[in-house]
Amino acid sequence: MSQKKKPILVAEGVSKFFGRMAAVKDLSFQVFEEEIYGIAGPNGAGKTTLFNIISHVLPVDNGQIMFKDKYIHKLSLDSIFRLGLARTFQIPALFKSLTVRQNVQVGATFGDPEKGVKMDKRDMENLIDETLDFTGLSAKRDIIAEELALMDRKLLMMASALVTKPMVLMLDEPIAGLGKVDSDQVMELIRNINKQGVTVLLIEHIMEALMGLSERVMIMHHGEKICEGKPDKVAKDESVIEAYLGEEYIRHKNQ
Ligand SMILES: Nc1ncnc2c1ncn2[C@@H]1O[C@H](COP(=O)(O)OP(=O)(O)O)[C@@H](O)[C@H]1O
Ligand SMILES: [Mg+2]
Repeated sequence: MSQKKKPILVAEGVSKFFGRMAAVKDLSFQVFEEEIYGIAGPNGAGKTTLFNIISHVLPVDNGQIMFKDKYIHKLSLDSIFRLGLARTFQIPALFKSLTVRQNVQVGATFGDPEKGVKMDKRDMENLIDETLDFTGLSAKRDIIAEELALMDRKLLMMASALVTKPMVLMLDEPIAGLGKVDSDQVMELIRNINKQGVTVLLIEHIMEALMGLSERVMIMHHGEKICEGKPDKVAKDESVIEAYLGEEYIRHKNQ
């Protein structure tokens, strides 16, 4: 990564509590323009909650979030989308009774209902078709979303986010649950999205995929950042190994 890259997304001391439990605890990090920033950590580490507070699915309790030099933690979900931040969900969230193409069409106007009116109809159609092509969904455009296999549901969620032309795309476990061939296809798609200049925040517990794609990785545990850096450094970090292997590891080490 070149020295000149600027931070595009900055979290400063963010916390989110569920009752008395801090799911995200005083967390700070920066994501630079056009990088793929990976996030991992054991189940329950707070990764999805972090996405939820950045994308305003949940309000943040403490701390600040900046996107493109603007504080966004007090903005509405719609206005964050309009600024250029889009996301997918760990459990594919789609309009089940709509076709693949209709889902992408809804995505195209999300957060900006006027866009459907403001944008030239043909430009809008082209944008939707290009997005279907880019994500490999063209042949399935008329299939009802409910009938799609997991891989295609994941692709469709990515298509619906991409059609908003985001500057930052947040992906919550886009690869988990897929077989080798599909994983490779999604990894290639993520690389292609990034090549177009889109900054990617990637939560993934499939380590091979995360480490292979990310320029830098943050490992979370109990809502906190326990390690951050280049994948090869993070993979060797003692605290990361411990967090993943838990008590089993510590018991062995002390024997
Ligand atoms: N809406 C919620 N209400 C209460 N507790 C939640 C909610 N969402 C997540 N949690 C809890 O917060 C912690 C972090 O969850 P999550 O962010 O989903 O972790 P991860 O994505 O890293 O597996 C877990 O203990 C989980 O049970
Ligand atoms: Mg999660």
